[in-house]
Amino acid sequence: MEKVQKIDHLETSRLRLRRWKESDIEPFAAMNANPEVMKYFVRTLTREQTADMVANLDARFEAEGFGLWAVEVRDSGEFIGFTGLSRPKFESFFTPCVEIGWRLDHKAQGKGYATEAAQETLRDGFERLGLEEIVSFAAAINERSTNVMKKIGMKRNASEDFLHPMIDPASPLAPHVLYRLSRQDWQSQLR
Ligand SMILES: CC(C)(COP(=O)(O)OP(=O)(O)OC[C@H]1O[C@@H](n2cnc3c(N)ncnc32)[C@H](O)[C@@H]1OP(=O)(O)O)[C@@H](O)C(=O)NCCC(=O)NCCS
Repeated sequence: MEKVQKIDHLETSRLRLRRWKESDIEPFAAMNANPEVMKYFVRTLTREQTADMVANLDARFEAEGFGLWAVEVRDSGEFIGFTGLSRPKFESFFTPCVEIGWRLDHKAQGKGYATEAAQETLRDGFERLGLEEIVSFAAAINERSTNVMKKIGMKRNASEDFLHPMIDPASPLAPHVLYRLSRQDWQSQLR
């Protein structure tokens, strides 16, 4: 990727996607310790793991000019989770790549916030960052997440379903689906 213009937030009609703050750690740790929010992950996170994660997430913005944004509701300023772009750390047939991802607190789900934040993240990824393709993947049983992928126009090719290399293959969380969206397909959907 060529040198990108740095920004510190994005906005949608209801949401602000912004750089992380110290004050996000408390509500984010509560989310990450909630088995319902973390239902499709191998484990919940401790407060210390969340604090490390926030530091790492914020560092990606400095290093690459993009990352997983902290998301807050514009009206209330309430922190509700994250949405944004990242590079998967494992190797697979579809890496290196840029992935779009999301995690919202339980009380913020079912309001269309994930889709709204994801649509703005795609726009930023294709326009400002000039990406050719953005992918997304989830445990095949995580229908709420794959539902967002479909709603933002991403497409799955069943021949690309895979077992996540960092999850025990015997786990029900191991089978994953891969969704892709090219810049060209994104542009043609806008018309
Ligand atoms: C995946 C996740 C982010 C999806 O959140 P979500 O709130 O279900 O997704 P959306 O923002 O698209 O909202 C969905 C629902 O909000 C409802 N909704 C209410 N008000 C709405 C509005 N104003 N606009 C749009 N949708 C609205 C819709 O009915 C929609 O459901 P539908 O698509 O079945 O009709 C959420 O389930 C989550 O954080 N899960 C835990 C973490 C996780 O698994 N992350 C993904 C790992 S791969």
